[in-house]
Amino acid sequence: MAFAKQFGIDIRYETRLVEKQPTQAFAEAVRKFAQQGGMGANVTIPFKVAAYELTGRLSPRAEAAGAVNTLQWQWRDGELEVSGDNTDGAGLLNDLNGNLGYDLRGKRVLLLGAGGAAQGVTAPLLDGAPASLLIANRTADKAVALAARHSESGAHVTASTLADLPALVHDGFDLVVNATSTSLTDLRMPLPAGLFAKDALAYDMVYSQQGNTPFLAAALALGAGQASDGLGMLVEQAAESFYLWHKLRPQSAPVLDYLRSASGSA
Ligand code: ATR
Repeated sequence: MAFAKQFGIDIRYETRLVEKQPTQAFAEAVRKFAQQGGMGANVTIPFKVAAYELTGRLSPRAEAAGAVNTLQWQWRDGELEVSGDNTDGAGLLNDLNGNLGYDLRGKRVLLLGAGGAAQGVTAPLLDGAPASLLIANRTADKAVALAARHSESGAHVTASTLADLPALVHDGFDLVVNATSTSLTDLRMPLPAGLFAKDALAYDMVYSQQGNTPFLAAALALGAGQASDGLGMLVEQAAESFYLWHKLRPQSAPVLDYLRSASGSA
């Protein structure tokens, strides 16, 4: 809404809660929203993979991610044609590079999680030319599959379980991105000592209005030099989605400043 105001566009942007079961509930919710005049939608946890499966036309970013967070559609001969994109990765990189001034080049990066959120940011993280990327997930198969999907990127991409992480810490990671859903449930994931290299950045893709997320609190206690929640990413991915819908590029910085001051985390 704040982006629309920058261009004098009158829109409504509001949240809709969709039941997770049965599986077709998501597709039905999208269709109903389109019938009611909805023009497009952002999709969030836990429907990013369902949105990918629903979508007939995928952008290369969504294809690479295997997950969708932005939907556009049109009616053709009574049929709803849905297109899907993924702006999460662009959002994360714009936040890292633009708002936080963080340069990924040559960095040792650890990505925690291998679900839809992690899938969306893997290719963009690799585009930033880190020295290495380790994907660690509670369930081994998903981490291995995600790493395999990006094995030809030229970067050093490996996979592990969270349980095996202590043996892989070595000199610590420069950037640790939490893409698990643990912070959403206020769950503290066990993190090994030495995980963070000196001056490391801990980044949680989730944000909290009540101070640090459990992951960021644990990271700071383990010696991370900097901690950032996902508010910047949220604003940046929204700006990118706005661009897809309106072909207008909004200014994200004033919106982020406003939200940070409103949440008291400025
Ligand atoms: P999203 O689309 O947000 O990524 P998801 O596909 O359900 O949602 O993935 C959630 C991620 O959080 C997964 O990586 C999940 O690990 P599994 O693949 O093993 O399920 C991770 N996750 C959820 N609860 C967790 C917990 N208690 N500890 C560690 N990781 C957890």
